[in-house]
Amino acid sequence: EKGGFEHFMLKEIHEQPEALANAIRGRLDLHLGSSVLAGMSTSQRELAELVRVVMVGCGTSLHAAMVGEYAFEDIADINAEVQQAAEFRYRNPIMGSRDFVVAISQSGETADTLAAVKEAHQKGAFVMSLVNVVGSTIARETGRGVYLHAGPEISVASTKAFTCQVSVLLMMALKLGRGRRFSREEGLKLAHDIGSIPLLVERVIAKEHIIAKIAEDYVDNEHAFFIGRGPMYPVALEGALKLKEISYIHAEGYHAAELKHGPIALLQPGTPVIAVACEGPAKDKTLGNVEECRARGARILGIVTEGDTDAEEVMDDYISIPRTHPLVATVPAVVALQIFSYHVARLRGCEIDQPRNLAKSVTVE
Ligand code: F6R
Repeated sequence: EKGGFEHFMLKEIHEQPEALANAIRGRLDLHLGSSVLAGMSTSQRELAELVRVVMVGCGTSLHAAMVGEYAFEDIADINAEVQQAAEFRYRNPIMGSRDFVVAISQSGETADTLAAVKEAHQKGAFVMSLVNVVGSTIARETGRGVYLHAGPEISVASTKAFTCQVSVLLMMALKLGRGRRFSREEGLKLAHDIGSIPLLVERVIAKEHIIAKIAEDYVDNEHAFFIGRGPMYPVALEGALKLKEISYIHAEGYHAAELKHGPIALLQPGTPVIAVACEGPAKDKTLGNVEECRARGARILGIVTEGDTDAEEVMDDYISIPRTHPLVATVPAVVALQIFSYHVARLRGCEIDQPRNLAKSVTVE
């Protein structure tokens, strides 16, 4: 059942090129530079009238939502925000019919996300789900939605669901963007880059042996920091979550700019800092933050863009990912971190598919 892999998590990491191809297939319009998402179909006028996108979710799905936030703002030029699902329902969300609420959940059964959907419905918002499990409670409750088609995810640590969620969010932003200010030319370029995601991920997976070798040097630490900026900030959060849940290393994900507002006090010679510093508008600033960490003797593992020697030079170790659109790059970047976390946990002898205290779906609040 594990298809020759030692763990479901590794199997699912390797399934990503195929899962992503399934999530993307038939959904890109390479003529209009847009996307075709049946679950999002409503009149272009109704879409054009939306004033805000609010994404709700928990855990890894919340991190996908955070990437989506950058995508909606950059591509669709629409006000976008993310709310942890439990927070959303216990606050007084101010919204109405021109708010577009996207509930993101792999299982479609997460209690807080389901409750947020009910709350959003009550407020009269335009609600949609982004779910993997077909016919799950959240999918049924929202009525309208886009399935991931990632296939069953057995490992408690979510991998392929995250990369498929991000890919679909990019397509949603593209669709919304094309009804607004995003030009056909820009749309065509982005659609092409989204279409190449399965291949980009395959190229990262092909480096597994290199990543596994690097992981050997990070096994004996009890603490680690993950930093990033812009869309790579949620990637850093997701990298930290993966590492902590399967290896039990205390891993903190921080916005790179926040380090010097407190957490830098914890850096000591040898403390690992994993810096997601792929090419994009935020790269140079991230490299500046890496220098600050180096000055405290931290050991830096960079996730960098292939051929970016400026970035390679400031890192102790690096994993390079193919060059692509900075939002699209979040997907191969996170795959590199999934593989890294997996190998650190494996070398520590952890129960990777069944981490202590965790369940695959959290149906209690
Ligand atoms: C982490 C993980 C969890 C889930 C969270 C939400 O690897 O799997 O953080 O992402 O419990 O679950 P779903 O997406 O099923 O709502």
